[in-house]
Amino acid sequence: MQEYQHWKIEEHPTGIVWLGMDVDGASANVVSTAVLSELNQILVHYSKNLPEGIAITSLKDKGFVAGADVKEFTKITNHQEALELVQYGQSVFNQLDNIPCPTIAVINGFCMGGGLEMALSCDYRIALEDPKTRLSLPEVRLGIHPGYGGTVRILRYMNPLIAMDMMLTGRSINTSYAKKVGLIDEAVPQRLLNNVAEKMLLSKPKKRQAPRISKLLNNRLVRPLVAIQMRKQVAKKAKPEHYPAPYAIIEHWQKNYGDEAEFLHGEAESVAQLSTNKTTKNLVRVFLLQDELKSLASENVDKVNHVHIIGAGVMGGDIATWCVSQGLLVTLQDLNAESLARAKSRAHQYFKKRLKKRLLIKSAMDRFILDINGDGISKADVVIEAIFENKDVKRNLYASIEPKLKEDALIATNTSSIEIEQLCDAISDPTRLVGLHFFNPVTKMPLIEIVQGEQTNQVISQRAINFAKQIGKLPLPTKSSPGFLVNRILTPYMVEAGLLYDTGTSIAAIDQAAKKFGMPMGPVELADTVGLDIGLHVGELLSQAYNYNLPNSFKTLVEADNLGRKTGQGFYTWKNGKKVKPKSKSSAENIDYIQNRLMLRFLNEAVACLREKVVEDKDHLDAGIIFGTGFAPFLGGPLNYIESNGARALYETLESLHNQYGKRFEPDPEWQSLINNS
Ligand code: NAI
Repeated sequence: MQEYQHWKIEEHPTGIVWLGMDVDGASANVVSTAVLSELNQILVHYSKNLPEGIAITSLKDKGFVAGADVKEFTKITNHQEALELVQYGQSVFNQLDNIPCPTIAVINGFCMGGGLEMALSCDYRIALEDPKTRLSLPEVRLGIHPGYGGTVRILRYMNPLIAMDMMLTGRSINTSYAKKVGLIDEAVPQRLLNNVAEKMLLSKPKKRQAPRISKLLNNRLVRPLVAIQMRKQVAKKAKPEHYPAPYAIIEHWQKNYGDEAEFLHGEAESVAQLSTNKTTKNLVRVFLLQDELKSLASENVDKVNHVHIIGAGVMGGDIATWCVSQGLLVTLQDLNAESLARAKSRAHQYFKKRLKKRLLIKSAMDRFILDINGDGISKADVVIEAIFENKDVKRNLYASIEPKLKEDALIATNTSSIEIEQLCDAISDPTRLVGLHFFNPVTKMPLIEIVQGEQTNQVISQRAINFAKQIGKLPLPTKSSPGFLVNRILTPYMVEAGLLYDTGTSIAAIDQAAKKFGMPMGPVELADTVGLDIGLHVGELLSQAYNYNLPNSFKTLVEADNLGRKTGQGFYTWKNGKKVKPKSKSSAENIDYIQNRLMLRFLNEAVACLREKVVEDKDHLDAGIIFGTGFAPFLGGPLNYIESNGARALYETLESLHNQYGKRFEPDPEWQSLINNS
């Protein structure tokens, strides 16, 4: 048998052939054209020399398959190229599907996208019973849908409502649910995995079939009715003009379900159509940016085991919960026993919801240690300070803990606004302090700004980056200037929302304008959610640093103790954590004009940050804003938006607002270079 670059083949005496996927030069398997082409050759060979059965597995430590090779996707320039790429993948998986010997996918870890499509082309699928084994078809997040036969074959085994939900949301499912809904045949512990696979190939049990209800739901007359409901569900989360892919999935199923050859053809056409769409290009960009931030971490470094967190408030408590959820031991310190108790109870709620099983919850809570005396400081690998936002209090704390720290412990602050230079000389070695700026809510927000003061040692910053990656967050190295990157750009935009409100614009119109642009939440609702006191504090600091005025409304609401969601009243009224629908906007309000005022302040500040090199480059800036604020991913980030919509046109609108409202809209000098480069 010939040698292959990405596959290792073992022929067992039982007559079973094991195809081990081991993509050359990658830590996780991806289905590239090269991988498919070798699989094709292998299948051609075994079609002529039929074995008793074929088992496909992964030889990587990290999972089964992470998906198709997204980088290949970025090279596509037109419909025809996309169609050829997809049809080639389909042809290889058709061959796997049609080989006249039993086939099984032995899914020994995460199994995503193209990997799951490959598994679906086998007769059977078994998966390793482990929390890390998750199965998904996440293509929709890249603005496309499964294209290697996934949309077709999944319906052989599953209820279309559940299968479509997986494809429409891109969510991943665990092995017990996957077995329940028919996606896999068995969930098996490690020690039995290969034996069960061989047994199934030799005994050839009946293949799974979709439950009986599926026939009705897939019926030609019923599909259009089901599709209407699906579109309604999707519309709650994504507008078709922003995110066409989920609508295309529904359309494809409604139109093409039936004869499998035609269904496959429709799938390829639909993916090719989506591939050249602007949204898809931008979503692929977002995916690659995420990879770029992850790749900043060094490989093979010592892992952190113990984190000590000082300050058990909103942030410290949730950072502790997150670190525990990532397998670390955490000691949590606070002056105030009530803060500690509250943090513990919040953590317990979180683990109950996430982990469900009693033993797992107990094991997590055993690693969440309250430590009012700070005994953990001397043992921790990383110490994170998350106490009140007060320079002197923080400095005093550092001076008092420094003698107790382990010699090589990383010491970090979660400050959201104080520059590292103002804090670091409170310890004898100022090169040792770095910012680890988490975002609220910690368990949901993927970004951490790694704030580097002028003195911060590069080795220390790198360790902070490695730590962020270890706990599953995206590290963004950021200069220590007021507001760092994310708050610096968000604040003028939120301030503008307040100024619009002060001059009579309704909150409904302001939030609608931002959402129309593609922001996940309007600035008024965001301000209420973060807390107006916190917003005002950051606003005061940044308005001084960058010389702009704050709206009166923020101050008035805070003075009246109407702090937003947490007090039940802010700009909105809140009941049980949900906002009460406000009076709708009047028809006289001009949404496009409001959108310009909000978004041009946002974009102008982004351009200023680019010029000042607050982060390394344009890609880092876009990544920070997408992952730190939820900025419309389908636009690919603020600078990508400027580039693709024409810097000159945006500059001219900004200039006209500058003439009308003065200095706060003064275009940053960097616009000229963006215009020149466009
Ligand atoms: P918080 O007011 O909810 O909690 C602060 C906690 O620190 C309190 O429980 C307090 O008892 C404790 N504390 C104060 N001095 C202490 C000391 N010397 N030793 C031990 N414990 C002490 O504050 P929050 O909102 O959690 O903020 C903490 C830090 O995180 C601040 O630096 C803030 O700027 C930053 N931050 C806040 C964000 C937010 O949205 N709240 C977002 C990102 C960063």
